Amino acid sequence: MRDPLYFFNSLLDRADMSLKRTDDWRDRAAAELMSTVLGRAQIQGDVLVMLEHLPEVAEAVTGAAGRARSWHRLARGGRTAAEWIPRGPFDAATLRLPTSKDELDMAVHAAASVLTEGAPLWVYGANDEGAGSAARVIEPVMGSARTVESGGRCRVLEAIQPAGAPRVGGTLEDWRLCTPVEFPDGLREWISYPGLFAHGRVDEGTQALLEAMRSTSMTGQHILDFACGSGVVGAFLAALEPSVLVDFLDVDAVALAAVGKNLPGARRIASDGFAALEGERYDLIVSNPPYHTGKAQTPEVVEGLVRGAPEHLEIGGSLVFVTQRRLPMGALMASTFGRVEVLLDAGPHRVWYGEK
Ligand SMILES: C[S@@+](CC[C@H](N)C(=O)[O-])C[C@H]1O[C@@H](n2cnc3c(N)ncnc32)[C@H](O)[C@@H]1O
Repeated sequence: MRDPLYFFNSLLDRADMSLKRTDDWRDRAAAELMSTVLGRAQIQGDVLVMLEHLPEVAEAVTGAAGRARSWHRLARGGRTAAEWIPRGPFDAATLRLPTSKDELDMAVHAAASVLTEGAPLWVYGANDEGAGSAARVIEPVMGSARTVESGGRCRVLEAIQPAGAPRVGGTLEDWRLCTPVEFPDGLREWISYPGLFAHGRVDEGTQALLEAMRSTSMTGQHILDFACGSGVVGAFLAALEPSVLVDFLDVDAVALAAVGKNLPGARRIASDGFAALEGERYDLIVSNPPYHTGKAQTPEVVEGLVRGAPEHLEIGGSLVFVTQRRLPMGALMASTFGRVEVLLDAGPHRVWYGEK
C-alpha cells in the first residue's frame, strides 16, 4: 500500500521546481582563463594537470609543446580515476580549485611534492568558490601566491616552487583522518580523507537513511551501496545483518580508497552512476546520493539512480535512498516503481522506498 503521505508529496513535487541542473559556467570560465595563462607561459616540459575534467587545459599544455599528465580523482565520463597524483618530477602543475579547504591543502602539498625547483603551480577557479582566499592555503607550502590572470568572475593564482621545499604531505596516507563512529556492533575507528563527504563524521541524511533501515529484513541479500563515500551506509547494514554481501560504488577514487581501508576485502566499483555496472543485479540498492558538486546542482545523479535502479535490481528487489524533502522525487518514483513508500520524513530529509 502506498504511504498516505505519498500523494501529498507528489502534489508538492509538481509545485517544487528545484530538481534542476545549474549551469557549470564556473568550470568553463576557469578552464578558459587557465588556458590563457598556459598559452602565455609556453611550458615545454612535463605538466601535471590536476582535478580538471574539461579538455581545454590539457590541450593548452600540448598546444604549447608541453606534455600533459592528468590526475582525475573522479571516474566521470568513463575516465580512469586514481587516488593520488602520478609520480613526478613535473616542470609545472595546474590545479582546478577543489571544493573544500582541506582538499585544496592536500592537493597543494601533493603538487609541491613533485614539482622541480622554480616550477610554477597555478591554482584557478571562480571567486565564489574561494579563489580569492586560496593564497592563504597555498602560501604556507609554496611561499608567495599572486593573481596572474582574472576575468569572468574567476582568477588564476601562481606560486613558484621554492628551493628545498619540504616534501611533507606527499602521500594520501599523510592525510588520513580517523574518527570513532558508532555501528550496531560497536565503535570503530573510521577512516576518511580530505574532500570526502561528511569528512570525519556521519551526516544527518545518512543517519536518517540508517534509522529508516533498522527494521528492514535483509537476510542473505546482495546489496549495492551506491555513491558510498567512505562506506558508512554499507558498513552499517553489514553490521546489522552479517549475512549480507555489500558492494561499494562511487565516482571518487579517494572515497574508494577509504572503503578499502575501512572494509578490507570489500568489492569496490569506480563508476559514474551505474555506467560500470553492466548486467549486474542486486536485491537492494541503498544510497545517500549527491545533488550538488561544488557550487553546481547536479540532479542527474539522483535521477540516474532512480531511473537506472530497476535494471540493476532482481524482481522484488528494492531501492532505498535519502534526499532533502525539497527535492521533487515523487512523480519520478511513481513512474519507475510498482510500489513506492516514504519510509521516513525527518527534519529536512525524506527516505524513499521503491520496489521492482
Ligand atoms: C552525499 S555523499 C554520500 C556518501 C556516503 N554514502 C554517506 O552517506 O556518507 C555522495 C557521494 O556520491 C558520490 N558521487 C558523486 N557523483 C557521483 C556519480 N556520478 N556516481 C557515483 N557516485 C557519485 C560522491 O563522490 C560522494 O561520495
